[in-house]
Amino acid sequence: MFKRIPGISLGCDYNPEQWSPGVWREDVALMREAGVDLVAVNIFGWSNLEPSPGRYHFEDLDEVIGLLHENGIRVNLGTGTSSPPPWLSSLHPEILPAAADGTIRFPGGRQAWCPSSPVFREKAFALVEQVAQRYGSHPAVALWHVSNELGCHNALCYCQVSAEAFRGWLRERYRKIETLNEAWGTSFWSQRYSDWSEIQTPRLALSLRNPAQIIDFHRFSSDELLGYYRGELEIIRRHSAIPTTTNFMVTAHIRNLDYWSWAPEMDVVANDHYLDHRLGDPVAELSFAADLTRGLAGGKPWMLMEQAAGAVNWQPHNLTKAPGEMLRNSLTHVARGADSLCFFQWRASAQGAEKFHSALLPHAGTDTVAWREVLRLSETLDRIGEVAGTEVESDVALVFSWESWWSAEGEARPSQAVTYLDEVHRAHRALRELGVTVDIVAPGADVEKYKLVVIPCLYMISDEAAENINQYVGNGGSLLVTFFSGIVDERDRIRLGGYPGAFKDVLGIHGEEFAPLLPGHEVTLSNGATGSLWTERLRTTTAETIATYTDGPLPGVPAITRNGNAWYAATQLDRRGLRELMRSAVESAGVTPAGPESNGDVEVVRRSKDGRSYLFVVNHSAQSVQIAGEDLVSGKLITELKAGDVAVIREAGND
Ligand code: GLA
Repeated sequence: MFKRIPGISLGCDYNPEQWSPGVWREDVALMREAGVDLVAVNIFGWSNLEPSPGRYHFEDLDEVIGLLHENGIRVNLGTGTSSPPPWLSSLHPEILPAAADGTIRFPGGRQAWCPSSPVFREKAFALVEQVAQRYGSHPAVALWHVSNELGCHNALCYCQVSAEAFRGWLRERYRKIETLNEAWGTSFWSQRYSDWSEIQTPRLALSLRNPAQIIDFHRFSSDELLGYYRGELEIIRRHSAIPTTTNFMVTAHIRNLDYWSWAPEMDVVANDHYLDHRLGDPVAELSFAADLTRGLAGGKPWMLMEQAAGAVNWQPHNLTKAPGEMLRNSLTHVARGADSLCFFQWRASAQGAEKFHSALLPHAGTDTVAWREVLRLSETLDRIGEVAGTEVESDVALVFSWESWWSAEGEARPSQAVTYLDEVHRAHRALRELGVTVDIVAPGADVEKYKLVVIPCLYMISDEAAENINQYVGNGGSLLVTFFSGIVDERDRIRLGGYPGAFKDVLGIHGEEFAPLLPGHEVTLSNGATGSLWTERLRTTTAETIATYTDGPLPGVPAITRNGNAWYAATQLDRRGLRELMRSAVESAGVTPAGPESNGDVEVVRRSKDGRSYLFVVNHSAQSVQIAGEDLVSGKLITELKAGDVAVIREAGND
């Protein structure tokens, strides 16, 4: 539906408010030249559409949409509500959000609104009503884009309006104050509540805060913004049958929304992704984020709503992309299930906080490497269009949980050096290096079709989700668990009687005590691997020991165990050590890799459906790789793929 017809669409955010009408015409002509066919407008349109309270001005937007339509470019129409105009926060400062220390966040940036504010909702919904009414059946509009990156800045609001909404949410969840007291363990430190009115948002306190309160506040905050999304959706639906979405932020540095609960409400799952050079391996993270987005889409094709053609402007050091890099990034997204590739933004801004952010059309114009890279991508998408609609094949599932992320990184825990996402990335990277494609699933998801399930550092898991995994293994499935998994239930209450409470029987182990290591310290294992950050005093019950520690605090204690089909790593294995363990699990589970083993610099993923099959090969390495077949990208029969190149091999079985 969002495909180039036929094919994979190429799109962008477009902010015509920043330019004069003369530039709009040039823009649309250049969009045509670049093959851009899906354009998001009105993302930050509010102060132009409603320059003063209740006075609407649609003429400019009418003209822009008309211009795009005349040129055969479909519109991804923003509802315009993401950033309120100054008059709104001036008239109603009570819409402004509060940070965890209780201080108010001022307007002057963007998204300065409290997700629970009834005043903000009233004003935003009035705008949505106008926009939906006016454009709800406009032939150019292909997609509704609700707000923008909901919760990017304002997900956690600690103001008094939020506190009241939080209390309402808690009453719904627990019904009785006694049930809440039990769930939050309020006997500890004299925190027992006698009335709902005593409950606050978990603002910064003098000492450690109640972790169960914090986790519920995260859940509430995610639900609150989802409720806001539903509010806009309901209005759109009264005026329009056009599909609706909002852009997720499945990325390493934003974690405040539980997208497992959001995804089913999207007509199409859309993600924004930017390479993050603060991470050790930004491309591996991109692959993970793309796999997770596909998981959110239930394995169906999804949409990349934003990526950068070159540098961003919001990291400490904003690296640009070398020639070919943007194409490789793009093909990684498509390989992992994206059927639309969009960018932030069309034309690089001359003013404002994002003037140093790259765009499809750079400040320097079209006689540039960057513009030629855009044309190269466009041509590639034309050539590979027939892959649209196919789905990614995978025999391995990796369990991922936002709740576990929030809770595993609480204030007081065995080691502040252990971070959830890092452990998840390590497991994903080991599989990627083995050439194995992974589906990312929610805790409790049906995993029966998979040959292997990987559970990295899943600290929090409910009884039902744990039972689901235990049954899967009981039915013959293979499992690999890494340390600090299955420790607490959804109330953040320790599963007593030996670690990891949720999985100790299926893993055939009994953990007594955590023994984290100081950052920079390593232990050696009897199989030659090394471990960092974490060890634990454990004994096997029914498992066999694959490796023990030979030094460190626990010499002779099991570090890697195997209980039939269920494997456990009790330490943070070095890269090679984890890859070897993963190899054992993959081989014993009978998983067939899609591609060759590499350092992660050769990505191979298969997309197929109804007898059509395509092998994506993205060569990030400095060497050519052997790969033979009919390549859609070059239009030739190839026997090797050069360093830095991409190929999409049309496999036998296609018509
Ligand atoms: C986000 C936003 C965009 C823009 C980009 C910059 O993804 O949605 O409006 O700010 O970041 O990278």
